[in-house]
Amino acid sequence: MSLQGKLALVTGSGRGIGRAIALTLASQGADIIVNFFRHRESAEQTARDIEALGVKTEVIRANVGDPAKIHEIFDIIASKFGYLDILINNAASGVGRPVLDVNVKAWDWTMDINAKAALLCSQQAAKLMEGRGGKIISISSLGSRFALPDYSIVGISKAAIEAVTRYLAIELAPKNICVNTVAASAVETEALKFYIKEGLIKDTGRATPAGRMVIPEDVANVVAFLCSEEAFMIRGQTIIVDGGTSIAPFVIPK
Ligand SMILES: NC(=O)c1ccc[n+]([C@@H]2O[C@H](COP(=O)([O-])OP(=O)(O)OC[C@H]3O[C@@H](n4cnc5c(N)ncnc54)[C@H](OP(=O)(O)O)[C@@H]3O)[C@@H](O)[C@H]2O)c1
Repeated sequence: MSLQGKLALVTGSGRGIGRAIALTLASQGADIIVNFFRHRESAEQTARDIEALGVKTEVIRANVGDPAKIHEIFDIIASKFGYLDILINNAASGVGRPVLDVNVKAWDWTMDINAKAALLCSQQAAKLMEGRGGKIISISSLGSRFALPDYSIVGISKAAIEAVTRYLAIELAPKNICVNTVAASAVETEALKFYIKEGLIKDTGRATPAGRMVIPEDVANVVAFLCSEEAFMIRGQTIIVDGGTSIAPFVIPK
């Protein structure tokens, strides 16, 4: 699989899963636009690591929860490159609380960054993919379909992304744009290690049929496949990357 000469925007790609996706696409030859909001140094380190792979990179600071900032991202891409081949809607935030405690502020914050941004970025990206086709992949989680503790509003925003994916996949098919989502179970990021260490989340590795927790590269590899021409006939799907967790909920850790 080669992404030589392609241009990809990965939202929230300075750290975690977004960084792994950016590096994986870059290792296959794609030029990468790194987006971040708060952690500039991480984003610039990711950009240096991408450049070391021999491709071009651009770092854009923007809060994707703000529609005006999304327009700024795409104005920059339009003026500097004039096209886009791949959009990865990865950036996410959220307020962790039970659904009965979700207020308007928590709802708007989470939905704006996670769901509205995915829609607005996809609409803008489709314009820059006009006449050349493209790939749009969003990142979801098992919380879109399973009720996880204190995950309510984030899970709801992920369910919205998965629904948006299906509608976009149909409407953008005539433009040769493939739209899909990758949904992961708990992924072993720095943040998650902290929660496990503090005893706030259980290490689910032993209960995963595949024998270990999902790592960012597992998600990135599936995203890269969906960006390839080999995945041309996969449209509007949510591909689960969870080592089998969701089909074996009653596995007892050995
Ligand atoms: N970790 C998991 O267990 C897990 C499981 C399933 C799905 N996912 C999904 O995978 C994706 C990445 O998760 P992660 O664990 O890698 O998250 P993370 O480590 O918390 O990183 C989040 C990324 O999103 C960026 N971001 C947050 N708010 C933003 C905003 N308003 N505008 C622009 N960028 C923003 C952050 O930028 P800064 O660096 O500037 O803060 C950061 O790069 C998310 O969609 C998440 O829901 C994660």
